[in-house]
Amino acid sequence: MAPRKAASAVRQNYKVAQPKWKAVDRYFGDLLLPADAELEAALRANRAAGLPAIDVSPLQGKFLHLLVRMTGARRVLEIGTLGGYSTICMARALPKGGRIVTLEYEPRHAGVARANLRNAGLLKRVDLRVGRALDLLPVLAAERAGPFDLIFIDADKENNPQYLDWALKLARRGTVIFVDNVVRDGKVVDAKSKDKDIQGTRRMFDRMAAEPRLSATALQNVGVKGYDGFALAVVLR
Ligand code: SAH
Ligand code: DHB
Ligand code: MG
Repeated sequence: MAPRKAASAVRQNYKVAQPKWKAVDRYFGDLLLPADAELEAALRANRAAGLPAIDVSPLQGKFLHLLVRMTGARRVLEIGTLGGYSTICMARALPKGGRIVTLEYEPRHAGVARANLRNAGLLKRVDLRVGRALDLLPVLAAERAGPFDLIFIDADKENNPQYLDWALKLARRGTVIFVDNVVRDGKVVDAKSKDKDIQGTRRMFDRMAAEPRLSATALQNVGVKGYDGFALAVVLR
């Protein structure tokens, strides 16, 4: 009989990438991602500052970059900045005059992100706000900062249902909503999970499914970050 894994190992399992998944990410990355001094410097700075290594992967960052391009988004909202890796990927795809608002709870993360964005020459395109997203989102609404063209939800998964509600409030017809990390090594199917992040994501999906203003899909993916996935939705009206 196989030995039981420690609970913590099971919890973190989605982060463990199989060698093949890494090799394929390396193959695609070598072909499709040119050497990028600013993104590489940002990753080094994030690790040097001890930020958790949960930035989107380089290929996922390119995916977000392309989404911003393909939608022609001029106003982007990101919930969960960390060190600004995904922020850089998206900000670079904005047209002239485009702007990204990004929300981060941890002042230390925001400080590292600000330095990375400055180094990438992108500070003027980014409005980085520090605080709990659930406190900052009503401020954005009161400021009439929306509607946003693309909204990337990537913070504390526990609050994903509320983030989806706010995304709808700050959207227009055609807004694209991307929710990161919705698979978590397949744990999303465990209705009885005691993990608050899984429960938050499942409640987010319940709302997504019940919301007539949204048309949505979700994809599983593997790669250097292990086995995870994302949800993608468009606002119909
Ligand atoms: N989008 C980033 C990764 C974000 S990691 C990238 O791909 O590069 C998730 C971030 O959300 C962390 O920095 C964490 O501090 C932040 N966060 C957690 N809870 C939050 C909250 N309530 N409000 C805002 N940010 C939060
Ligand atoms: C975690 C968070 C993320 O945003 C991510 O992409 C991967 C992992 C986490 O909290 O473990
Ligand atoms: Mg994420």
